[in-house]
Amino acid sequence: MSTNADAQKRQAAEQALAFVEEGSIVGVGTGSTVAHFIRGLGTMRDRIEGVVSSSEQSTALLAQLGIPVFDLNAVGPLALYVDGADECDPHKCLIKGGGAALTREKIIAAASKRFVCIIDAGKQVPVLGRFPLPVEVIPMARSHVARELALRGGQPAWREGVVTDNGNWILDVHNLHINDPVKMETDINQIVGVVSVGLFARRAADIVIVGDRVLP
Ligand code: A5P
Repeated sequence: MSTNADAQKRQAAEQALAFVEEGSIVGVGTGSTVAHFIRGLGTMRDRIEGVVSSSEQSTALLAQLGIPVFDLNAVGPLALYVDGADECDPHKCLIKGGGAALTREKIIAAASKRFVCIIDAGKQVPVLGRFPLPVEVIPMARSHVARELALRGGQPAWREGVVTDNGNWILDVHNLHINDPVKMETDINQIVGVVSVGLFARRAADIVIVGDRVLP
């Protein structure tokens, strides 16, 4: 990753802090961009009640900073979810899951009123699919799901050695050109054995921040 990309990630994270409401519980994603956001939250931890975390990785950083982490079931809908992405198209549809946290990220995004996505410019694409699409699968269904994904024109590769926080496995699907992300998300969701797919199109981002720019 270039220094420029990391500087843009930090800038985007700083901009996102302005969306945090006093006394609220904030949903936080996973990854290097969100790590900047979490450190920012650490500087204002007396002004928020706490967070809901999307991964053990983020929870560990939150614990280091003394930020209270709540169970989503204990807090109900959230006003704000902040997360990074691996790709973002002009409609604010995303590919996520490079860090294998897609399922919990998707749950928190679904339970949040506003989803602010923070990225560097290298994540912007005209059409999703250059980044291999992560799909979380129940381990015994890996081969079945891989065959189904191949029928849809993708080239699935097992991310060997990676076990998600939910105890599942990841297939990364190469060679997709995702012209209709809502349709593809709906279709892949129907494959038996799929836990979730890293397409965030049915629930896309509401606001995308690229470096210091909030996209219109
Ligand atoms: C985690 O599973 C992903 O969805 C991340 O949000 C995504 O990979 C972005 O990561 P970076 O912020 O590290 O680029």
